[in-house]
Amino acid sequence: MAETPYRIQPRQPEGAPLIIEPAGDDDLGRLCDWLRENSGQVQDGLTLHGAILFRGFPVEGPGDFERLARCVDEELKNEYLGTSPRDALTDYVFNASELPDYFPIPQHCEMSFCANPPRRLFFCALEAPAEGSGETPLCDFRRVWQDLDPGVKKRFEEGGLRHVRNYAGPGQPDSGDPTQLKPWPELFQTHDRAVVEETCRREGFEPIWVEGDALRLVSTQPVSRDHPRTGETAWHNHVTTFHVGTAVGEYERIARFRPSERHQGVLGMARTLQERLRATPPEERGMHSTYLDGSEIPDEDLDHVRDVVWRHLIVEPWRQGDVVAIDNHSMSHGRLPYEGPRRIAVCWA
Ligand SMILES: [Fe+2]
Repeated sequence: MAETPYRIQPRQPEGAPLIIEPAGDDDLGRLCDWLRENSGQVQDGLTLHGAILFRGFPVEGPGDFERLARCVDEELKNEYLGTSPRDALTDYVFNASELPDYFPIPQHCEMSFCANPPRRLFFCALEAPAEGSGETPLCDFRRVWQDLDPGVKKRFEEGGLRHVRNYAGPGQPDSGDPTQLKPWPELFQTHDRAVVEETCRREGFEPIWVEGDALRLVSTQPVSRDHPRTGETAWHNHVTTFHVGTAVGEYERIARFRPSERHQGVLGMARTLQERLRATPPEERGMHSTYLDGSEIPDEDLDHVRDVVWRHLIVEPWRQGDVVAIDNHSMSHGRLPYEGPRRIAVCWA
């Protein structure tokens, strides 16, 4: 990039975000002006590196975060069709996830199962978690696609993907199952079934109303997407998020990466729960993924994908006020477990 009042450098190892830090001048307004004036270079940097980390700027709340995000991408959106419970902080900024702190959030590109997933995603550390926990790891899914075993890749490409998600009805009691999804009126922000069905049509979900006013969403997706600007292919789907083996598959790797009694304990619970879930019909689980024809994906293939993803995982500790801009076509994100305070906000375009 051209001469700037900022330090701009690619991070190590390869595949990590570009980092922009103040070289003296940390004024947020001037950063925003600079981002707009150098928009072409900023967009190119984001596409090439997959993510940009803004560090050391005075981002003090959701308003500052939204302002900075808008200087990278003007067109913020606020319709969310994912599975995390989220609270709004402004019209466009949300708490990233209200899921319990021990929950694993595996790597995924935001709403990849929608017909129109976000192109950009932004996170901000409003309250950074304690060092060594609660990071939002990133992974370059272009590299994952390149590194997949050809046999595994072929089976996924030929098989395609079908996802089932079961959302509770408005008045349904909490089932106590930690994989139970939030009630559908929370997801769609309406109680009107016709509006829900219209959104489903637009995003390519098949809505099935089931007993007790619950909602089952069935969707299909290819395993990869080509980048709209560069044509590069990336692994781009939700199979290692929605599949019944997800919690165990993730926690095995979390417990290896960061050994602790707590992680071993959660892994044990996840194994017990998985056994119970595998005994229930696939259509009735909170979430599950199969090939398009409904046949099961081999566990070894899913483990291979997890291994490749973890090999390319970039784990950067959060610092207060960090903002990361992510190209959602090529870079995935997730969350590692944590304890204590942690407030990460999200917005997207
Ligand atoms: Fe996400």
